[in-house]
Amino acid sequence: MPETVRICRRDDLAPGEARRFDVGDLRVALVRIGDDFYAIGDRCSHEDFSLAEGEVWEAEAEIECARHGSTFDLRTGAPCSLPATTPVPVFDVVVDDDDVSVVVR
Ligand code: FES
Repeated sequence: MPETVRICRRDDLAPGEARRFDVGDLRVALVRIGDDFYAIGDRCSHEDFSLAEGEVWEAEAEIECARHGSTFDLRTGAPCSLPATTPVPVFDVVVDDDDVSVVVR
């Protein structure tokens, strides 16, 4: 059953910023690009490394793993460059006034 969980306020993240949030047992990397928010699993599929520590590629809507440089599409979770070859999960984001929530299962 999907659950909508509030994780922060809109202005807690600056445009171009990524931050890790723990939602129950899930590690979620929340990314802000302009006024759009994206949420992906905060665990690189190559090795267990926090994607929220990586650089946000705003024009491409990707995030780069800081460990070995794979990039992931923030819309789909698909890896866009090696060494990662498998996608990471993505989560729907709900922005309601000032509140940012993620939808988790
Ligand atoms: S741990 Fe992310 S690319 Fe290797």
